[in-house]
Amino acid sequence: MPMAVPAPNAAQGLARTDDRPKVFNQLCIACHALGGQGGNVGPPLDAVGDRHDAEYIKRWLRDPFAVKSNSRMPKLPITEEQVQELSAFLAHQTKSKAPGADGAEAADGGAKEQMP
Ligand code: HEC
Repeated sequence: MPMAVPAPNAAQGLARTDDRPKVFNQLCIACHALGGQGGNVGPPLDAVGDRHDAEYIKRWLRDPFAVKSNSRMPKLPITEEQVQELSAFLAHQTKSKAPGADGAEAADGGAKEQMP
């Protein structure tokens, strides 16, 4: 069966939206790119997990100005639940997970496959 390769085409809307928190596509994408799509007001978040851990990202999302007093990112109207969801998601955005970087990484850390 031929694989449907998502075209990196903005006119098509977001190619992959199912694997990320909904709120990401509602709020964050306006300013941040992920997977080659999104705004460029803030830095791309593709490998943000290599720069920051989940704790830092949580603090950042709750209040960017508490982390960086001259932050150019506004404090956003998101719930604590969304902060948790987003920080867990973003902490896993690392280079090794970038599309095409290494197919073998698919299982991704935590869940080490148990070989028979
Ligand atoms: C209005 C534009 C805007 C929106 C909306 C926005 N950001 Fe940002 N974000 C920025 C900017 C600008 C920076 C860089 C801040 C700075 O360093 O002053 C940033 C920085 C970040 C960083 C730190 C990146 C790094 O490499 O240090 C993270 C993480 C982040 N944003 C996540 C999010 C998430 C998650 C959302 C959605 C809930 C979001 N942002 C929504 C503009 C935005």
